[in-house]
Parts: sequence; C-alpha cells; structure tokens
Amino acid sequence: MYETVSFIHSWWAYLVVLVLIITVILSFVGLASKKDYGATDFRLALFTLITTHIQLLIGIVLYFVAPYFQAFGQVGMGGVMKDSTLRLYLVEHPLMMILAVILITIGYSKHKKKLTSRPKFKTLAIFYTIALIFMLSRIPWSAWF
Ligand code: HEM
Repeated sequence: MYETVSFIHSWWAYLVVLVLIITVILSFVGLASKKDYGATDFRLALFTLITTHIQLLIGIVLYFVAPYFQAFGQVGMGGVMKDSTLRLYLVEHPLMMILAVILITIGYSKHKKKLTSRPKFKTLAIFYTIALIFMLSRIPWSAWF
C-alpha cells in the first residue's frame, strides 16, 4: 500500500509542478501582451486546480501510511520537530502543500468571477505564483530526483 501510494504521489508531482509552471508563465504572458483570456487559459487554470486537488488527496493518504507517521508515537511531537527529515515530511511539506492548494483554489475561484481578461490573468498570476513558490520551497528535492 505505502509503496504504491508513494509511487503515484512521486510521479503525479511532475504533472502538478509542470502544469502549475505553465499556467503561471501563460498568465504573465497574458498580462504583458494584453491578449484576450480564452478557453485554453480557462482549461489550463482548471486542469491545474484538478491535478493539485488530486495530489492533495493522494498526499493525505500517503501521510498516514508512510513509515514517518509512526514517529509521532515513537519520539513524540518534540522529537519530530528536532529531526529535520521528520519535520519536513510530517510538518513542513504537508503544511506548505495544503497552503499552496488553498491559494490555487482561491485564485481559481476569484479569477472566474472577474469579467475582463486583465484582472483574470492578474489574479491567476498572483495566486498561482505564490502557490508555486510555496510548493517549490518544501518539495523533498533530494528524495525526489
Ligand atoms: C499538493 C501538492 C504536493 C506535491 C507537489 C507533493 C510532492 C511530493 C514529492 C515530490 C515528494 C517526494 C517523492 C519521492 O520521494 O519520490 C513527496 C513526498 C511526500 N509527500 Fe507530498 N506533495 C504534495 C502534497 C502533499 C500533502 C498534502 C501531503 C500530506 C498531507 C503530502 C505528504 C507527503 C509524504 C508523507 C511524503 C513522503 C513520501 C515517502 O516516504 O515516499 N504531500 N511529495
């Protein structure tokens, strides 16, 4: 169970990071070039929302089946916070990823309510960029590559 979920979470992360980067770049391009917001922009923003939500669900399952979780019982919260690896997997990574997903969700729903192209691109650019920074800051890079 753990190996399977970990494998899916690890590979799905490539899709999440890739689509998020593409949406961020295209929202800045849209802003700078003053182009009209179109169906492709909407589909991309929605696809990013869906892929990150799926990753969130996989991550929550992984959290409880991963061996790291047993550390809470073995060394307690204090012990987890003192160990940088345990702190990353059990506290920092989940927290920052959940915040990133919240930002993407807020950004998506706010951009949908805007009526013209520029505010739509601007909202996406702000919320999705902060989400991307949060994500990149707490990905366990050494374990991933
Ligand atoms: C939504 C965006 C997320 C992204 C892009 C992401 C990405 C990643 C990546 C790249 C890894 C390393 C995989 C590897 O070692 O090959 C990882 C590991 C992990 N993630 Fe996430 N994650 C996300 C959300 C979450 C959430 C919300 C949780 C928990 C609530 C979570 C829990 C974990 C755990 C426990 C590991 C360690 C897995 C292991 O031991 O193999 N992740 N994540």
